[in-house]
Amino acid sequence: MAASRLSFRNITALAPMVRVGTLPMRLLALDYGADLVYCEELIDIKMAQCHRVVNEVLETVDFVAPDERVMFRTCEREKDRVVFQMGTSDPDRALTVARLVEKDVAAVDVNMGCPKEYSTKGGMGAALLSDPDKIEAILKKLVTGLSIPVTCKIRILPSLEETLSLVQRIERTGVAAIAVHGRMKEERPRHPVHCDYIQAVAQAVSIPVIANGGSLDLVKTNGDIEEFRKAAGTSSVMLARAAMWNASVFSNQGPLPVETVMEEYLKYAIQYENNAFNTKYCLCQMLRDKVESPLGKQVQAAQTIAEISEAYRLQELYQQTQERLQARRDVLESSSQPDRLVMDGDVTTMAVKFERREYPPQITPKMFLLEWSRKEKLEQPLYEMVQRSQDRAFQSTVTIAGKKYRSSLWEKSKKFAEQAAAIVCLRVLGIPEGRIGEEDSGLVCKRKREAKMNGITEEEGIKKRHVAEQETDNSKMAAVANGDHHKPDTPPE
Ligand SMILES: Cc1cc2nc3c(=O)[nH]c(=O)nc-3n(C[C@H](O)[C@H](O)[C@H](O)COP(=O)(O)O)c2cc1C
Repeated sequence: MAASRLSFRNITALAPMVRVGTLPMRLLALDYGADLVYCEELIDIKMAQCHRVVNEVLETVDFVAPDERVMFRTCEREKDRVVFQMGTSDPDRALTVARLVEKDVAAVDVNMGCPKEYSTKGGMGAALLSDPDKIEAILKKLVTGLSIPVTCKIRILPSLEETLSLVQRIERTGVAAIAVHGRMKEERPRHPVHCDYIQAVAQAVSIPVIANGGSLDLVKTNGDIEEFRKAAGTSSVMLARAAMWNASVFSNQGPLPVETVMEEYLKYAIQYENNAFNTKYCLCQMLRDKVESPLGKQVQAAQTIAEISEAYRLQELYQQTQERLQARRDVLESSSQPDRLVMDGDVTTMAVKFERREYPPQITPKMFLLEWSRKEKLEQPLYEMVQRSQDRAFQSTVTIAGKKYRSSLWEKSKKFAEQAAAIVCLRVLGIPEGRIGEEDSGLVCKRKREAKMNGITEEEGIKKRHVAEQETDNSKMAAVANGDHHKPDTPPE
């Protein structure tokens, strides 16, 4: 299990960075030698609305919001190395979100250092530093409720005494490590880092301490990391800006030219269909004072990954990747074995499509499922829709009696996606689905009997039920697709 393999001692980590710490940057940091990679801070309220989607084309696991954006994308390669950082001020919500990602990440971290107003006004980030009871409640809830390590990232408090008292209280919650950004919440990133505070923290607790805040004055190259480690008195360090500017800072082979690093970054962005605006932001950070150069201007003007690829002369790779992904999509669709059950988390899936011609006019699997649920006195089926960005196709998950069912195949229309989900459910439960050739099934016979008793033709009866179904159907649409979530205008801490 990831928990047992993960160590927070003697490590160099990619620090959490909003907009920067998405999958391409994390993989790049791992390539260059980072031991652990933190994702950007993700807010619990937004994450709690996400669906976990296995993306078989990209070979990733995506957490997708109702507004079609991929909030968090991860893959097998980083599973034992990625720390999921969340912004939270609520223990229950924190646990809900942590459980959602638990099997896909190596650890969960709580951000207690962000001084930006949008974070502190919700009681999150640095606001937590003045509410140690809340800190304790959140961390204890996570530590007891999760099978993976829990950590937190703090800033130092105005006095050493307060800082030490806080970290000792944090240690008692059972967290696996604590990252300390050696600045107070009022201090700006350009202010010198207080290595003496970090040193004192490292001596006051027995859990690993990860020193942070050294990018500007201490760490410029890989060799400087050791100096920072010594100055902070910790075995582990975490780098934000130094890594954002040139991720090869993690490599002990010496720094690579930033042009090479940008190219490698973009290759991952292409491979994992990273959001274009997020990709642009990262490249502009790497360009730094060259952001107004011809290349910088081309990057800034680009609206899509295709256009960014052109700026870096990577359009051929972009085209090839698109073709490869499309080919994989086609293979997956054609090789899916019908009627084979596969569990995707708590969802039972089967590769089925709704073929209209297989059903009599006006008869649909959804109607059969609704009718069955009424007969069984269950709540009526609830349909939730997702949409993927690459081809705008739909997939629906139906929940009935607390169980979820979905077709692993994607449909071009929302209606067909719901019918496919209903078919999966009916087949798994062994209930007739109304297909031609099922005429003798219990439900169909019952319908015929009811129609006779009511003196109406079977077709009229079906129509009546269909109208009733339309009226009461409380299908819920949660369209999702690839994209980056809405970000604040200024990066947080
Ligand atoms: C662009 C950017 C985004 C950041 N986003 C986060 C974040 O999401 N969570 C967090 O805990 N800190 C965040 N930080 C703060 C860094 O993790 C780090 O604490 C700070 O930059 C000091 O480290 P450094 O000197 O290595 O840059 C961010 C910093 C930058 C530059």
